[in-house]
Amino acid sequence: MEGPNLQHRALLDTLVLTEKGARLKLLEPDTQTTLLLTVSPCKTDTVRILIDELQPIKARYRVPDVRTEEPQVEHLRVERRSEDSVTLSWSSGRHQVRVWRFPFRLEILSEDKAMVTFNSKGRLWLETLQGPPGATSHGSELQEDHTGGLWKETFRQFVDIKANGPSSIGSDLCLHGFSHVYGLPEHADGLQLRDTRDGEPYRLYNLDVFAYDLSSRLGLYGSVPLLLAHKPDRTLGVFWLNASETFVNVHYSTSDHQDGRTPPVKRRRVEPQTDVHWLSESGVIDCVVLLGPSPQQLFTQYAQLTGYQALPPLFALGYHQCRWNYADEDDVKAVDAGFDRHDIPYDVIWLDIEHTDGKRYFTWDSALFPEPAGLQLHLEKKKRKLVVISDPHIKVDPDWLLYCEARDGQHFVKNRQGQIYQGSCWPGESSYLDFTSSDTRAWYSRCFGLDKYKGSTPSLFVWNDMNEPSVFDGPEQTMPKDAVHYGGWEHRELHNLYGFYQHMATVEGLITRSGGVERPFVLSRSFFAGSQRFGAIWTGDNVASWEYLRISIPMLLSLSVAGIAFCGADVGGFVQDPEPELLVRWYQAGALQPFFRGHSAKETKRREPWLFGEDVTAAIRTVIQQRYCLLPYWYTVFHQAHTSGLPPLRPLWVEFPREQSTLTVDNQYMIGGALLACPVTEAGVQEVKVLIPGSGEVWYDVHSAKAYNGGRTLSLPVTLDTVPVFQRGGSVVCRSAECGSCTADLQQLPLSITVALDSQEAADGECYLDDGHSFRYRDNKAFCLRRFTLLSGRLLCR
Ligand code: NOJ
Repeated sequence: MEGPNLQHRALLDTLVLTEKGARLKLLEPDTQTTLLLTVSPCKTDTVRILIDELQPIKARYRVPDVRTEEPQVEHLRVERRSEDSVTLSWSSGRHQVRVWRFPFRLEILSEDKAMVTFNSKGRLWLETLQGPPGATSHGSELQEDHTGGLWKETFRQFVDIKANGPSSIGSDLCLHGFSHVYGLPEHADGLQLRDTRDGEPYRLYNLDVFAYDLSSRLGLYGSVPLLLAHKPDRTLGVFWLNASETFVNVHYSTSDHQDGRTPPVKRRRVEPQTDVHWLSESGVIDCVVLLGPSPQQLFTQYAQLTGYQALPPLFALGYHQCRWNYADEDDVKAVDAGFDRHDIPYDVIWLDIEHTDGKRYFTWDSALFPEPAGLQLHLEKKKRKLVVISDPHIKVDPDWLLYCEARDGQHFVKNRQGQIYQGSCWPGESSYLDFTSSDTRAWYSRCFGLDKYKGSTPSLFVWNDMNEPSVFDGPEQTMPKDAVHYGGWEHRELHNLYGFYQHMATVEGLITRSGGVERPFVLSRSFFAGSQRFGAIWTGDNVASWEYLRISIPMLLSLSVAGIAFCGADVGGFVQDPEPELLVRWYQAGALQPFFRGHSAKETKRREPWLFGEDVTAAIRTVIQQRYCLLPYWYTVFHQAHTSGLPPLRPLWVEFPREQSTLTVDNQYMIGGALLACPVTEAGVQEVKVLIPGSGEVWYDVHSAKAYNGGRTLSLPVTLDTVPVFQRGGSVVCRSAECGSCTADLQQLPLSITVALDSQEAADGECYLDDGHSFRYRDNKAFCLRRFTLLSGRLLCR
């Protein structure tokens, strides 16, 4: 995985400054391969480093549709030139870029000190594309070598033929002064990334992994190639825009401090550094360094690059009740009535794959769900919704109109021989929609039209599952890398984008269905950078055990810092049956996380909240009711994510960037800037330790209003009913005075405002309100955003 070390030479005299940035050639002396480097500093305080072959035999894949807009490139000038390097600067004057001739390195400097060095260890790597064997001037010996060697890879019974030979790319970056890095979801691991010298690199390759291993760097359902680095005075990001299989190594160390001007000569002081090595199977090197310097600025820079979190409809932030499967219409109605009978608010009930006619999505099992529209109407009368599953595989069934339409419209992925690719999934033999094609996406979107999707109504929303994509008989249970997509692109180029595109198409479908008026809700299992624009994701097939409850917190924090802010884990654990104590603790944690859904596998026992005795019902009722009361605050922090990129769930270091003690905390977190949560995730405990950061800060227990001074670790006695949540002094939190039976009720209920004073007896905060479901907040500015400020004993509302 370390890869060879090739010393590239920067041909400094080829430097040209263009509107798109600085361009110059790089030469790899052994192979005489010439690469083209483009460096583009942008107005948003980001620097993009793009490296491609100068003259590839065909275009290499560049990830489309993830960046939301072309950023404005700064006007560059040459600041300094020497025999060995050239230094470029731009108008803001804060940063510079220095390119070293030999060995080629690229430094991003602040006040003449390198913050980041690209290729500092000389691991720049780009395998040039080759023509098909036989089609070029290769001799027959080489052809044989190619088909039997480099161009063909065998994994168990699977053979992968690489159309243009091996095409991997890679580079290393040194992050000077940093000893904590985060991000790179999705892995079932802690928040701070670990040094990979003791094991595997972090793998980014979207896979369906049932009951995944914990503390693992293997790939899970989704990938975001964003790494964040934090130290007290700066937060940095490295975004590696590549959708092929990617590995990342992280090495923490200390080094002799260098000033970036010359190679190290004399020892000054020892500074920590983190070396990060990226290696992807194909594509180009497209790497954006986000310069912060604050965590808040970094989140905004990343959102400007890949999009802001979609503002969910309010109901989506309520509680969701799911199971594989609710058996039939009567079952759904009985569960729905159970919530009312037990006085537990909820908004959405879900139907898994068994609701369909033989796993044909967009259909209904006519015996079990004879009146689907009537069922939705029944729920809608109580302002509740139905979510149904819609997976990307389509049953091969020439008697099914939808299959025929997809086949005849060329909407399926092909195999390398040019026939429609087939693999097995829930329905048996299936073909897979090619969501990378905009025509296919448009066709799929239309399938959600109320006229087309029989039995659907405007209160039906959608769940995209199995979209890594999962192929039961495929290599690693996914699609072969040499399958072919629209435009002739091999699946290897864009594997990690597959679920992203299905999510996009489904969201489009729901928006179009409503005439562009209503906000969609779509949950996806697979995702990529930018998926936040579409909706929610969840962490897949977890297990009903304490370890999985514990890992859900760092997993959701890693997703949150990588932009995927609307995320959750199956409450109770998907696989196996939770003991009642675990179920209660999981509800307590889930109620304090963005996407809040109870879900369980087919083989598990029923686990609606009232099936475990009155104590358990009461404990679950309490936290769901508290969630509903807190929804005005959740909605406000989602609005912040939507407008500033700041995630609702935040690691403590985001709010306390200068406090060393916060850097490794991943069992507690902030919800917005005001609330600190520390869900109990251990069995049978009578006491928990809670770090309340910030010396000079005051914190208030939200249940007792008891005040605590910050900057210490509390030992807090707990019972089964205790959920440690503290409000930060200096903040204002809006709640609903009552919880109602679903989120629609909240719109009618009065708000209560909790003002928590800081040591100066001041506080401020905001509250965002709108109709909760439409785009009128955006199109007609129909919203209300109030800022509350308490000063000198007076509460101002602006
Ligand atoms: C796998 C999903 O992860 C799970 O949530 C779902 O219940 C099953 N597929 C069946 O659709």
